[in-house]
Amino acid sequence: MADRPKVFVSRLIPDDGLRPILDACDARIWEGELPPGRDELLSAIEGCAGVLTLLTDRVDDEFLDRARPGLRVVSNFAVGFDNVDVPACTARGVAVGNTPGVLTETTADLAFALLMAVARRIAEGDRYVRAGRWKTWGPMLLLGPDVHGSTLGIVGFGRIGQSMARRARGFGMKVLYHDLARADASVEAEFDATYRPLEKLLPACDFVSLHVNLSDQTRGLMNAERLAWMRPTGILVNTSRGPVVDHTALFEALRDGRIAGAGLDVTDPEPIPADHSLLSLENCLVVPHIASASRPTRSKMAQMAAANLLAGVRGERLPTPVNPEVYERREPRPGAGSAGELG
Ligand code: DGY
Repeated sequence: MADRPKVFVSRLIPDDGLRPILDACDARIWEGELPPGRDELLSAIEGCAGVLTLLTDRVDDEFLDRARPGLRVVSNFAVGFDNVDVPACTARGVAVGNTPGVLTETTADLAFALLMAVARRIAEGDRYVRAGRWKTWGPMLLLGPDVHGSTLGIVGFGRIGQSMARRARGFGMKVLYHDLARADASVEAEFDATYRPLEKLLPACDFVSLHVNLSDQTRGLMNAERLAWMRPTGILVNTSRGPVVDHTALFEALRDGRIAGAGLDVTDPEPIPADHSLLSLENCLVVPHIASASRPTRSKMAQMAAANLLAGVRGERLPTPVNPEVYERREPRPGAGSAGELG
């Protein structure tokens, strides 16, 4: 039908999001297990009013040039949007949406699971058993630090970082945090968390968990110098973005015992090659970017991404826009209360 907007969805997403898109749009869904290649992506988006992207799809000038002029919305199926050149979208009047909030608790669950698993050597223990090496109960077997009563450093004290703090309190942990700006006293009190500059936080913590966005400021944040500020018994957890950690420096710190362990949900690159040096280390646990991968959370993400896509193709304000300034640019407001007003 002519009035059904043309959209491209760059991977199969849960039904709760897919159904409304199929009902309302002339939709092409990429059903491959792997993302579309660049050429396939660029050809699929031609003439689209909306594209539902994943963090594996790069949205840049080339993408926007190919899609134009009818493209109204890029709906990213993620809370992070470092794969999207947001200023380039805004400059072309393209709204960008993401899925904030719904994956906060699920992501913090996985960050805490990684923390526990590295501390208590869960993956190592499983490998040990499967290799037939479990011969007897051993007083010195697979010893690790206590989690309860230890000190956790949270780098990036946004929604997910704060959820991590809540979990840590349940384990009687002391919580320190670092962020670009110090949180309000009421937030610090709510989470019983104390601000520290990074150079003071890292040496003071048994565990350090990263919850920052990827930006020019955070790329390579955990480099050789900062890893050296951590304790030799310290454990690093990363559920943010791979490039926040310098992987060569991390490998050397883990190999040389300058830190005790790492739990990574995200790597640089993704996927991490099976022969990467980090994977040769017993004290490095890596899972394939699954922090938000619970069934309920992925369904909610699908619903939100679909709602953004559908609002965008209809010319309505996205429920969760990343670039609300696009509405000011698109629709100069004649007066308060007019259509397109920012909420
Ligand atoms: C995100 O949403 O940014 C995660 O990395 C994937 O869920």
